Formats: sequence, C-alpha cells, structure tokens
Amino acid sequence: MSLGRMPLANGFLTADQFEDEYFFELEPAFCASWGMFQIIEQPPPESMFHREYSFFTRTSQHMVRHFSDLGETVRREFLQGDDPFVVEIGSNDGALLEGFAQAGIRHLGVDPSANVAAIAERSEVRTLVDFFNQPTAAMIADEHGQADAILAANVMAHIADLHEAAEGVARLLKRQGVLIFEAVSLGDMIQRSAYDLIYDEHVYTFSTRVVAGIFADHGLELIDVTPLPTHGGSMRYVLVHKGRRPVSTAVAEQLAAEEAQGLHLPETYDRFRKKCETMRDRLLSILEDIKQQGRRVAGYGASAKSTTVLNYCGIGPELIEFISDTTPIKQGKYSPGMHIPIRPHADFMAAYPDFALLFAWNHKQEIMAKEPDFMNSGGRWITFFPEVEVF
Ligand code: TYD
Repeated sequence: MSLGRMPLANGFLTADQFEDEYFFELEPAFCASWGMFQIIEQPPPESMFHREYSFFTRTSQHMVRHFSDLGETVRREFLQGDDPFVVEIGSNDGALLEGFAQAGIRHLGVDPSANVAAIAERSEVRTLVDFFNQPTAAMIADEHGQADAILAANVMAHIADLHEAAEGVARLLKRQGVLIFEAVSLGDMIQRSAYDLIYDEHVYTFSTRVVAGIFADHGLELIDVTPLPTHGGSMRYVLVHKGRRPVSTAVAEQLAAEEAQGLHLPETYDRFRKKCETMRDRLLSILEDIKQQGRRVAGYGASAKSTTVLNYCGIGPELIEFISDTTPIKQGKYSPGMHIPIRPHADFMAAYPDFALLFAWNHKQEIMAKEPDFMNSGGRWITFFPEVEVF
C-alpha cells in the first residue's frame, strides 16, 4: 500500500528549509513467504540520524520509568559474572544506560546522533557516536571485550541491513550473553490499525516469526518474548547463542497467537489498508466540521507518528493551528511536510484550544494526568486509535 508522498518523520524544519525538504514514497509492503512487513523505499540513514536528531527518550516520564525497570531486570537476571559489560544499540539520551553507569557497570552506548549522545554523556553514560554494524561491533569487542548483554529499544527495526546487525551482535556477544531488544509489535499495530507507526525510521515492523527467523541465520535463538504496552503495543525479545539457555514456552505461544491473528495472510493487510482509509476520512471530516463551526484545534505532541497522520490525511495549518510539544529542539519549527507551527506547552496552557488532537496517543495516561485543567475548562480531546473519537 502507499501512504503517499512523505517527508522525514522527525524532519522538523524552519521556514527557510521548506524549499529543500526531502520527500519519499511511504510504501509499506508485506512478504507472504517471509512474513516481513517493511517499507520499500528507505531514505538514507544519515538523513534521519544526525547531530540534530529531535527525539529524546526522556521527554516521557513513563518511558524513563520503563527503562529504569528494564535496566533493573537485566542487572538482576543476566549480569551475574565478574566485571560485566553492557552495550546498548541506539542509546539516545542515556535513559536506559544511566542506571548501569550509576551502578558502576562497564557499559557503552552506540548512537549515530551526536546531540542526543551529548545528553547521555552528561549522566556519565559512555557513548560511541556511530551506527551499529559489523565494523563497529568488531571495534567494540577489540577495545572492551565481548558483551554480557546487548540491549536495544526501538532501534533494531530501524536498521535496514538487519543481517549485518545480527552478525555484529553474534560477534560481540559472549557465549553466555543475551541480546534483549524491544520493538513495536506487528500484531498490535495491525489490531489497532495504528498506521502512524509506519514512517521512514521504522524500516520494519516485526512479528515474532520474523525475529526468530532472521536471528537464527546468525546462530542466535529466540528464547523469550514478553508483550509490553509501550508504543501502543511492543514486544521484548530475548535471544542467546543457540542452545545456551532454555527456550520459554512463551515463544511457541506467541507464534501460535500470531498465526491465529492471521499475520501470515495477505488478506489481513488488505483489511488494514481499508481501515486506514476509513480512519483518514473520518478524522478529516471531524476536523472540517470543527473548522466550519469556527472553533480551534491544536495538536498535542509533535511525535514522529504525527508526520504520517498529517501527510497521509492531508491535514495542514488550515485545520490545526499549532502543535504543542515539550521538546526544545522542535519548538519554533514547523511540522514536516504540512508545516504546522510547533509551539511550547506554555502556549497551549496560555489559551486552551477547543479541541486537542492527541498525536502522542502512546502517552495518553501520562498526558491525561497532566491536563485536568484543559478538560475542566471545556476542552475536548480527539484521538484516532483504535477508532476516531472525541471525548
Ligand atoms: P513519542 O510518541 O514518544 O515518539 P515518536 O516521536 O517516536 O512518535 O513522541 C511524543 C512527542 O510528544 C515528543 O515530541 C514529546 C511530546 N510530549 C509532549 O509534548 N508532552 C508530553 O507530556 C509527552 C509525554 C510527550
């Protein structure tokens, strides 16, 4: 299917950059023989991950807690040896590795975006500013030795050459080591028709079947899976060198659940496409009605996901006055493609709009808890997954 002409999801820009804005065709596709769901055209990684990257993990308190819990689990269950060494791929602002640094555990983050890495370094998180691939994996192993744990959250699906990444992991990981990574789950995305999880950075959306298959080619075995609520439905995968640890029954159960959901069938994706079209039409008609009534709408959370929704639906500043966001690097800029102004949260509070369109729907609980005054003053929310709703 095609979601149309798309800019980079995190390509927030200034007015003088409008003319040179980068666009590509966002075409997700499903391969029935492999079970892979991926986008066909992929912008060059350097255009997405660079020294002005605009996503910072720490903008969500909930995600900070989530990663602190993950760190504790890893330290308790997988780091029993002497002087363990932990590597995180895509370590961003250090939210996950900070707990390891504080516990005095040898660690190294790898992230190609120098600006987020600089924030990590401020919390004593050592970071290599680079892409993770076979040469970097070999370099890390040479310099620090092999890793007891390799962690990756919301990044494995960003790596176009997955085989190279998997081979790098296999080389860097100790014989008894673990690879633990989290990624948006294809089953949840399809179930909610959450098409906004499809954008340039998400080259793949994984099912358990695909993860088991790809990594098996590199001698790594999937031994556990845990469904997570993050990003509207994710999966935590645990992999080891084949035969090194027992395989949990959760893996076979998850594979069976995916088959029962029909994730291996092309028809599932036909239904998904139609549902996306229906949701687009409904969201547009609600926003047009509100405009006719002369009432104001602001977006809430200039997430990468919002870029897909806005461009796929064709929603611009004529329908949404501005998008409120707490990330300083996004404020004062414009949304990719549709060029809606991004403003600080203080502007949202200073003059509440009549409606707030919740683009950061994955942080709904955290945001609702923060915004009782908006609703008490008569403001209403618009959400769009799993159905378009106004409340
Ligand atoms: P997020 O949904 O975490 O990720 P992605 O960009 O991968 O889709 O992005 C949420 C955006 O919303 C991020 O720019 C920070 C912003 N935000 C707020 O403005 N207020 C909030 O209370 C929260 C939790 C996020």
